[in-house]
Amino acid sequence: MASAFKRLEGKVAIITGGASGIGEASVRLFIENGAMVVIADLQDEKGTQLAQDMGTEVCAFRRCDVTLESDMEALVAFTVSKWGKLDIMYNNAGILGNAVAEDVHNLDMADFDGVIAVNVRGMALGVKYASKAMIDAGTKGVIICTASVSSILGGMGPVAYTVSKHAVLGLVRAASSDLGKYGIRVNCLSPWGVVTPLLVNHLRQAFENPALTQDEARASRDSHSNLQGHSLSALDIARSALYLASDDSPFVSGLNLIVDGGFTATNHSFDS
Ligand SMILES: NC(=O)c1ccc[n+]([C@@H]2O[C@H](COP(=O)([O-])OP(=O)(O)OC[C@H]3O[C@@H](n4cnc5c(N)ncnc54)[C@H](O)[C@@H]3O)[C@@H](O)[C@H]2O)c1
Repeated sequence: MASAFKRLEGKVAIITGGASGIGEASVRLFIENGAMVVIADLQDEKGTQLAQDMGTEVCAFRRCDVTLESDMEALVAFTVSKWGKLDIMYNNAGILGNAVAEDVHNLDMADFDGVIAVNVRGMALGVKYASKAMIDAGTKGVIICTASVSSILGGMGPVAYTVSKHAVLGLVRAASSDLGKYGIRVNCLSPWGVVTPLLVNHLRQAFENPALTQDEARASRDSHSNLQGHSLSALDIARSALYLASDDSPFVSGLNLIVDGGFTATNHSFDS
């Protein structure tokens, strides 16, 4: 359904991890709200198809491994040369790593390094090259990073994932401090469980049930939710990203916007 008021009219955005899940929902919502969007992802087929579905006059796919500095630099240069500027950088690509949580004393360091590379180094590179382009052009832009409830709570995911998402929060705070003088806002968005390939694959491994369906994953997630009566979707997260990306939040910077229905604000361990 088209939005009555287009909150991102004429804005140019990059969304990493835009081919799937939260990123895909954000690509759709940002374009519906008048933005031109570059999808940056490793999934060529899904990203290209989505760009075609959206319309090539407002959407492009660019293959980018966010862990590679040369890819990130080229992604930002591609966007600026295609649409003349960069207003919004949404660093969203992320991985969970070993789905079956290992205790810290059994940490697999290769897995740890892989998670940190995508979730921390990738987001730092996104902040670096996006802010450079914004400063060079005098653009009072917006940078958003997808963190997680694991940015403020241990035990919600594997060790490496928790470490990486706490680091995303640190990155956002440091960047909002450095970039405030240029009028660039930097925030992160911390979802509770969203039924995407990332979560479904995680639950399949955790429950040792490769046949687990999306509906079963949703039911499991909802049974642990604090806020009842609404089943959190990728679109709900995209709407929060839209708020942070738009002029609806002109003085919001350095925020960790937690979208969890109160999960991390409450503790039900005495309920039973
Ligand atoms: N789904 C959840 O429950 C949940 C909760 C909190 C936070 N998050 C975060 O949301 C973000 C999006 O996750 P999602 O749930 O939509 O998962 P998803 O798996 O559906 O999408 C992630 C996308 O990132 C891409 N990607 C992975 N590594 C990449 C790389 N090196 N370079 C470029 N692209 C890469 C993948 O190809 C994929 O398209 C992640 O940062 C994740 O940690 C998800």
